[in-house]
Amino acid sequence: MTVIVRPRAAMDLDACAKLLIEVHGSDGYPVEGVADPVSWLTPATLAGAWVGELEGAVAGHALVSTPNATDDAARLWEEREPRAQMLVFGRLFVGTAGRNHGVGERLVRTAMAYAAERNQRLVLDVMDKDKAAIRLYERLGWEHIGTATHHFGAGNRTEAQCYVAPC
Ligand SMILES: CC(C)(COP(=O)(O)OP(=O)(O)OC[C@H]1O[C@@H](n2cnc3c(N)ncnc32)[C@H](O)[C@@H]1OP(=O)(O)O)[C@@H](O)C(=O)NCCC(=O)NCCS
Repeated sequence: MTVIVRPRAAMDLDACAKLLIEVHGSDGYPVEGVADPVSWLTPATLAGAWVGELEGAVAGHALVSTPNATDDAARLWEEREPRAQMLVFGRLFVGTAGRNHGVGERLVRTAMAYAAERNQRLVLDVMDKDKAAIRLYERLGWEHIGTATHHFGAGNRTEAQCYVAPC
């Protein structure tokens, strides 16, 4: 299977939104944001976004953004490096039909290379329930830096793990 990762274009957003809604149904990711997927995929802090294609069709997505006040991983890593040197990795998902072909890994590696070229460190948080993503980050050498609690919806909460990418 041919995997290609390329910068996301505006014309990819509809396909990404459809995938996101599918992944929300299959995995409960994201916990919120599917009511307006295009907004969730285009945050004001966006720094870079990519799609992963499998056999020519959009199969996955990831982006990096500048840290905002609510980014737990950035808050934890700020003890070691200034915020200006960080980017937050996120919005990673691969549709169920495209999984286990390395699309997720290629998306993470692409964002890692993008940050490294700019001398910036990637940080992220991942919900405890998202086990495949945790395995992927740890396989690629991300370092665990702490835990956080996400509050969402009407009084819901979920635990998350925070990571920093290897240098
Ligand atoms: C996490 C996620 C993005 C991984 O996507 P993916 O494209 O399946 O990732 P990869 O293919 O790189 O790796 C997945 C598995 O396939 C394996 N794999 C990769 N290429 C393979 C190949 N050619 N043949 C067989 N297995 C392969 C990997 O070793 C990995 O194994 P593991 O499950 O034992 O860890 C996907 O599961 C997902 O979208 N989950 C829901 C959303 C989510 O949790 N997002 C995290 C936000 S922080």
